[in-house]
Amino acid sequence: MAETVKIHYEGKVVELPVILGSEGEKGIDIRELRKLTGYITFDPGLANSGSCKSNITFMDGERGILRYRGVPVEQLAEQSTFVETAYLLINGELPKREQLLNFSTLLTEQSLVHEDMQLFFQNYPPRSHPMQILSSMVSTLRSFYPDLKTSKEDEEINITLTRIISKVRTMAAMSYKISRGHKVVYPKPELCYCSNFLRMMFDNPVKPYFIDPDLVKALNVFWILHADHEQNCSTSAVRMVGSGRVTIYAAISAGIAALWGPLHGGANQAVIEMLEKIHAGGGKIKSFIDRAKDKNDPFRLMGFGHRVYKTYDPRARIMKKMCHKLLEKRSEKDPMLDIAMELEALALEDPYFVDHNLYPNVDFYSGIVLRTIGIPTNMFTVMFAIGRMPGWISQWKEDADDPNWRIYRPRQIYTGSRQRDYVPINQR
Ligand code: CMC
Repeated sequence: MAETVKIHYEGKVVELPVILGSEGEKGIDIRELRKLTGYITFDPGLANSGSCKSNITFMDGERGILRYRGVPVEQLAEQSTFVETAYLLINGELPKREQLLNFSTLLTEQSLVHEDMQLFFQNYPPRSHPMQILSSMVSTLRSFYPDLKTSKEDEEINITLTRIISKVRTMAAMSYKISRGHKVVYPKPELCYCSNFLRMMFDNPVKPYFIDPDLVKALNVFWILHADHEQNCSTSAVRMVGSGRVTIYAAISAGIAALWGPLHGGANQAVIEMLEKIHAGGGKIKSFIDRAKDKNDPFRLMGFGHRVYKTYDPRARIMKKMCHKLLEKRSEKDPMLDIAMELEALALEDPYFVDHNLYPNVDFYSGIVLRTIGIPTNMFTVMFAIGRMPGWISQWKEDADDPNWRIYRPRQIYTGSRQRDYVPINQR
């Protein structure tokens, strides 16, 4: 017999079905709860609420597991590329050779952005944050590329999805070049997604950029590790905004805005700024740990803690290994890596961090990888956003195709004033 859960209230009992996930997680299906009882649930931060059924990404926060479409992220980081992983996330299966070739060709075909878009980048005030620019520009893409009218709906969706993945990378590099007053570098069709990005960022007429295969591999791994993370803040924003049936451009733009926050994707920038502060202050790591533990101080150790992971974030483990590998090759050391490792070691033996299950998350070491590649600090979160594109797109698509789809519209427990009369201004 199907499992149910009984809720006792006001001397009555209601029985609700249990939903079982493919990895054995259980959820109480409360869809009929309000209709049957008049009650709603209360769950700030939605830490106990499943907002959807999804077959894209599986995480187990207790065991430190992350899989895309069933494939462990460790295997993808080791053996796959970002483009192949994007295909897997969007289409549900690893591509055959010909499918991968077609997908890569579509990405190449879509890699240019309309020349007029350069004017927007040129006219942003110079101190604008790259995340703000990216969010606006993705939304603006819709005006340049209104719906196609191909004969097949699938073809139209494929072109739109690849267009976003491809152009977002071109726009990020273009925005960087323009912000520095440099000539824009156009993508080259013979280069792969990651090599093209590095060249568009760093090549210039007087100093041609040498594409280092180790940096290309590092970038592939960085983007694979960021490609999806189930129902986090920005992905939920994409699904929520998308549920009003806006265009995918508007939904992704909302995701970028959500990701910008320092508690979410913005943490990768905040981590490096914290490490730099520690370095500049003479390396007083302990005082930062003490501040993070002090409940009267709003400071938190950036790159530590996670809503779901109560053990080491598997992405952080891979990222840490990559830091070492990249830095071994370089003659000069990055003092940030030593500070990060000492900070991690001190935190992991501190009872506060142990008791709260606080471990390094993906952002703790990712900034050091990005610095080694040469990415400026204020673009770190943009790098996260480019990597998350396939995840947002597949989650948006899953929501759009869901037969149980409903517009997101949570309830609330109202705690304000009861009804009272309007008082004219001269009587207040
Ligand atoms: N430093 C110090 N204390 C912390 C930290 C931290 N980084 N993170 C959580 N805590 C404490 C928090 O003060 C609370 O303590 P208490 O129960 O004694 O009041 C407890 O741990 C639980 O914290 P919470 O805020 O209820 O946990 P949450 O699940 O709502 O928040 C988080 C998760 C990631 C926002 C939080 O851990 C945090 O602010 N971390 C720092 C920012 C960061 O690194 N963000 C990147 C997350 S990973 C990338 C991504 O996917 O977005």
